[in-house]
Amino acid sequence: MDESGSEVDTDLCGSLTGLAGDLRAADTAVALIGAGLSAASGIPTFRGEDGVWGEVFDPAAFHRSRFERDPAGFWRDRLDLYDHMEPTDGAEPNPAHYALAELVDDGVLDAVITQNTDGLHSAAGTGNVIELHGSNARVVCDRCESTRKAGPVRRRARGGELPPTCPCGGIYKPDVVLFGELLPAVAHSRAERLAAESDVFLVAGSSLTVDPAASLPARIGTGTLAICNLERTRYSDTAAYDIRADVTTVLPALVRLL
Ligand code: APR
Repeated sequence: MDESGSEVDTDLCGSLTGLAGDLRAADTAVALIGAGLSAASGIPTFRGEDGVWGEVFDPAAFHRSRFERDPAGFWRDRLDLYDHMEPTDGAEPNPAHYALAELVDDGVLDAVITQNTDGLHSAAGTGNVIELHGSNARVVCDRCESTRKAGPVRRRARGGELPPTCPCGGIYKPDVVLFGELLPAVAHSRAERLAAESDVFLVAGSSLTVDPAASLPARIGTGTLAICNLERTRYSDTAAYDIRADVTTVLPALVRLL
């Protein structure tokens, strides 16, 4: 029992105390974030319990090749995906986002590398966020590559303009990395360099199934790999810490320990 009288997982306490010590001693520490971080904000994950892919939507419908072959159908399905994933009153950061923002603010984390495209790290005031998979807050023209806020363009699409087009005549695409597309080069190389340099590499809320992001733990040199994920991942057996607990519990607890 801890002072609040609640049952405390002594294993979890031990792991968090050890990880906090490693973070305190680290010159460079980085977090790699996945959809599990936003689950508590009402945004469903892609895999795992109630995962979007397979249960409700087919990821092939959002592949780059589908966008090129059938942009109107791509946008129709994309609007359905947004309706399913985005809370109607808009998603807000949760305690895990704010804990990450504090760890960056306090200099414990040097950067947050995120696979999420929901913008909640920025909404929580997190500094130095590397958006590996882009952002659904923007759309980008597939011809002239100009970007603009997604809201007005989505409204035009909902009003029947499928696909929505750029004044240059090109077609707008959500400014996210589709299956079949490369990661943004600068973000990708920054993430790889940080992984290689990290003394602690903390994965939170990711199934670590989609490369190249999921291969970042393999780039860690002599650093410590810590994973906080409800389910097992392909690195769980080799991680120094494999914490099967809720990020909204673990990350704020780490802040308290640091
Ligand atoms: N605390 C900890 N882990 C959680 C929580 C939670 N509260 N809620 C869910 N999880 C875990 C799930 O068990 C799952 O393993 O988060 C993980 C989320 O995995 P995915 O849904 O696969 O998300 P992610 O790893 O970010 O996916 C990578 O796949 O479809 C693409 O582009 C998409 O960026 C995404 C990429």
